[in-house]
Amino acid sequence: MPQSNPNVNRRFLLKQRPSGRIKAADFDFVEAAVPAPGPGEVLVRTLYISMEPIYRLWMTDTDHDLPPVKLGDVVRGVGLGRVVASNAEQWKPGDLAGGMFGWQDYAVVPPPGVARMSRIRPDLPVPLTTMLGACGSTGFCAYFGLLDVGRPKPGETVVISAAAGAVGSVAGQIAKIKGCRAVGIAGGPDKCRLLTEELGFDAAVDYKRADWRDALAAATPNGIDVNYENVGGEIMDAVIDRMNHGGRVVLCGLITGYNEGARRDGHLQVLGNFIPIFTHRLRIEGFVFTDFAPRFPEAVAQLAQWVAAGQIKPRETIIDGLEHTPEALNRLFDGGNVGKLLVKVAEP
Ligand SMILES: NC(=O)c1ccc[n+]([C@@H]2O[C@H](COP(=O)([O-])OP(=O)(O)OC[C@H]3O[C@@H](n4cnc5c(N)ncnc54)[C@H](OP(=O)(O)O)[C@@H]3O)[C@@H](O)[C@H]2O)c1
Repeated sequence: MPQSNPNVNRRFLLKQRPSGRIKAADFDFVEAAVPAPGPGEVLVRTLYISMEPIYRLWMTDTDHDLPPVKLGDVVRGVGLGRVVASNAEQWKPGDLAGGMFGWQDYAVVPPPGVARMSRIRPDLPVPLTTMLGACGSTGFCAYFGLLDVGRPKPGETVVISAAAGAVGSVAGQIAKIKGCRAVGIAGGPDKCRLLTEELGFDAAVDYKRADWRDALAAATPNGIDVNYENVGGEIMDAVIDRMNHGGRVVLCGLITGYNEGARRDGHLQVLGNFIPIFTHRLRIEGFVFTDFAPRFPEAVAQLAQWVAAGQIKPRETIIDGLEHTPEALNRLFDGGNVGKLLVKVAEP
């Protein structure tokens, strides 16, 4: 297996389209020379890779927000890195940047990607890793999804699935800041304790217990006004059953279907409970956080303030070593992470 070496670029190339959980055989892990940037290009040293469930969908042959990763290409991934060489006016060596750097040690970013790279503000009083988590795309997703799509009012009940994960843990804490009752759904007693004892959720439901539907009913005595949905499947069906008239479903993700969910006519079956959607006048709205890109500066400033004030407590799980990236991705589907899952590729 290629070892870390500052003169070598290790890269994961997609070898075949995975079936079910990803496996080592789905990738070629290869070494190449560290590339030099061409005109208008920037060379970035990857420091951290943000692990995101959508990567699994990008490995299929279907367009999911972005086109599929081509066989033989570097696996796509969002990262945080340091510019080491630049032929683009706006970036200089030493700058910290966020962008689509892929599962590799070094990325040459072409001009269209350079235009989309985000500058990591060194003045914000939060750790670097938080800029990929609670104050980065994860936080943006929670912030815009809950506030703009879900539009919760003080006193309303907000139920969040995958609540101990990256997006869910931030969404629940924002719901509390906005004066709502926050109920999290998560797998296992430790995650549920984290939600109520450390992150301030009002209640947590362990969906791995046989009586979880009763627990959901007990935790939502006034019904549910907003569902921040990350999972889908029977969890989402049960939440929809308890929604109040005029409730809002924020469709952030449907992780239950990404690996190998049940299919009908080739489509993933991730929602079965449609009748309450019309009888209870529910609004289901999907979004992708990049829809809100012009407002990212607002979100990062607000999220960093909440983090600095202790109103949002970021949680992170960090796996050391680029070579462990495929196993890290599987952890998202096994519940093997608390908060934001990151792969550390190099010392910042
Ligand atoms: N719309 C957007 O712009 C956008 C952006 C980023 C992420 N997302 C979506 O947001 C969701 C959460 O992503 P994330 O990055 O924050 O990941 P995450 O929540 O940190 O990790 C995934 C968690 O989901 C839970 N999970 C996995 N498979 C499950 C299943 N079959 N049933 C129930 N729970 C399951 C696991 O927690 P337990 O231990 O509790 O099972 C796991 O820890 C995903 O659906 C993702 O696609 C959307």
